[in-house]
Amino acid sequence: MKFDKISQVSYHFIAMLKLPIYMDNHATTPIDPRVLEAMGSCLREHFGNASSLNHPFGWQAQKLVERARAQIARLLHADSKEIVFTSGATESNNLALKGIAEIYGEKGRHLIMQVTEHKSVLDPARHLERHGFQVTYLPVDSYGQIRLDELERAITGKTILISIMAANNEIGTLEPIEEIGRIAKEKGVLFHADAAQAVGRIPVDVEKMGIDLLSFSAHKMYGPKGIGALYVRRKNPRVRLAPQIHGGGQEGGLRSGTLNVPAIVGFGEACEIAARELETETERILRLRTRLYEAVTRGLDEVTLNGHPRNRLAGNLNLSFSGVEGESLLMSLSEEIAVSSGSACTQARVEPSYVLKALGLAEDLVHSSIRFGLGRFNTEEEVDYTARRVVQTVRRLREISPLYEKTGSGKKSERKPTLQEGLPK
Ligand SMILES: Cc1ncc(COP(=O)(O)O)c(C=O)c1O
Repeated sequence: MKFDKISQVSYHFIAMLKLPIYMDNHATTPIDPRVLEAMGSCLREHFGNASSLNHPFGWQAQKLVERARAQIARLLHADSKEIVFTSGATESNNLALKGIAEIYGEKGRHLIMQVTEHKSVLDPARHLERHGFQVTYLPVDSYGQIRLDELERAITGKTILISIMAANNEIGTLEPIEEIGRIAKEKGVLFHADAAQAVGRIPVDVEKMGIDLLSFSAHKMYGPKGIGALYVRRKNPRVRLAPQIHGGGQEGGLRSGTLNVPAIVGFGEACEIAARELETETERILRLRTRLYEAVTRGLDEVTLNGHPRNRLAGNLNLSFSGVEGESLLMSLSEEIAVSSGSACTQARVEPSYVLKALGLAEDLVHSSIRFGLGRFNTEEEVDYTARRVVQTVRRLREISPLYEKTGSGKKSERKPTLQEGLPK
């Protein structure tokens, strides 16, 4: 009888759990069925070109675009006129940096950012350096945050733009955006934030945060791929921008090309859902993350938390497992659990994460890191299964690892940050 009960429980458990488990929500998110529903009817029924203003097909498409624009603007506390559609955050970041440099280059040729920015900010910055601009790359502390006094010191009379990411894609660390916005305003410098990981996951208010330009993307918030936006402030100050894609003059001339109406509709719906559910969703995801962290650290010693203990995205857990190659762990798990080591966006090249290196993490810990990205559709069952598999796999890999012997099994290294429960401050 007792045995029966146990097997019933485990059968129930397995029946509810569908493998592989997706826990890589920083790379991209699955589309929300409600978003899909909104896009489906648009794809089926409204094929008009939103620029065709001489017939009802175009009018209908334009109406849908403007409705979505308003939904998106509401999530940011912005005005719809301040939303420029792009293909995603990469394009938005490029438009922001190059577009500002082109217009304000006369005034000054200096930009400031942080070393842990995403490649889609760092690469345009390198491009600008090749064209005579000077870029200051601010270092980060061991949690991945910049120091505000260093930011202030870096600003000169020639600085035209500060570009600081709102949330890091690898370690989830949140930057003090509101304080940065205040400093930028005081010094009269424009402030761009790459918020690809932040919009839909933390409250973003461009007014309160003093943001002048903001890049974000639908596929990080349960919307479709290939659509994103750049918020461009229109007053106090009115930000001017040089277009980087020329053509039919769509999006107020800032980004030409026929608008992808179904994707825009999906993006709008994703923002509307986020605005409504962000608070309850964050709490639920936080609980899942705490559960995962506690189960993993109960089962294993020498686990290091990377990133900020509290000021981080609710769904982010970046851990290093001493003595284990992150890549080997990833491979051992990959058929059942989708997680990531380092940044997925640069995985064509296998190189140690520059973000983890910037935190001052020891080389072996950089190589032994795994990023768990929890999201809307993860369940407690998935978390429990993942924790069990991670613990088993790390133990097995450590048994055969010469690296683990060298560091000394069970050795307690210097004080490490532990995850703090609750919302970021
Ligand atoms: C912080 C950050 N910025 C920019 C991007 C690029 O976004 P997209 O895929 O929409 O071009 C990503 C995607 O990984 C990201 O995490």
